[in-house]
Amino acid sequence: LGKTVYYKETVDSTQKLAHRLVQEGCPGGTLVIAEEQTGGRGRLQRAWYSPKYTGIWMSVVLRPDLPPQWAPPFTLIAAVAVAQAIEETAGVHPEIKWPNDILIGGKKCTGILTELQADTDQIQAVIIGIGINVNETEFPDELKPIATSLLIESGRKIKRALLVQRILERLEKYEKIYIENGFAPLKLLWESYAAVIGKNITAHTLKGDISGKAIGITDEGVLQLEGEDGKIHSIYSADIEIER
Ligand code: BTN
Repeated sequence: LGKTVYYKETVDSTQKLAHRLVQEGCPGGTLVIAEEQTGGRGRLQRAWYSPKYTGIWMSVVLRPDLPPQWAPPFTLIAAVAVAQAIEETAGVHPEIKWPNDILIGGKKCTGILTELQADTDQIQAVIIGIGINVNETEFPDELKPIATSLLIESGRKIKRALLVQRILERLEKYEKIYIENGFAPLKLLWESYAAVIGKNITAHTLKGDISGKAIGITDEGVLQLEGEDGKIHSIYSADIEIER
């Protein structure tokens, strides 16, 4: 990964640019990275705070030769790659909040947005957008209660290039494992960073809220919730609230 790199001082969104490059036929492994985003966006079209020089704002294009049903675990794979790279580089233990947030001490330091371009039977590209708060020392008031950075949590100024390199190395390795052997061999690793397993949570889904205990994920990366009635619910996509 990262043999083809688009590096920008300023861009509206690395994710938008990556989508365009995919249309133009960029190779798998293309990295789009910027010092600043003026229109960074998160899931559900939320704005993503992306100030200049302090964070990592990047999108990685993968072009696995797989059918579209295989796409969802790529978010989990990316989260593991990022969590491990953060742990190694900053010396703090991050937690993954299913499916795609990385938290330290309960606050968010990383968001991952995985998007797909696909035909009915073939993935054209998986575009993994990764935003990491690295060397920020403070946040706008509205983010203060929920956001943190690696510098704030570790007390260390982090070399962003090193962190990017470590993320790409791991992502490449885990993509290969996934393509060859599926998600099952990566499940334990994912669970070792999981913030939700064993906890009572509420999943806000498009069909409504489901509350219960998160008991694990399946070999396909689907979250399993045990409801109060003892029934097991499969959660494919949701915003998770962890009950304290
Ligand atoms: C989320 O938690 O909602 C996901 C946030 C993803 C942010 C990253 S930053 C790089 C890439 N470009 C974007 O516009 N968004 C993603």
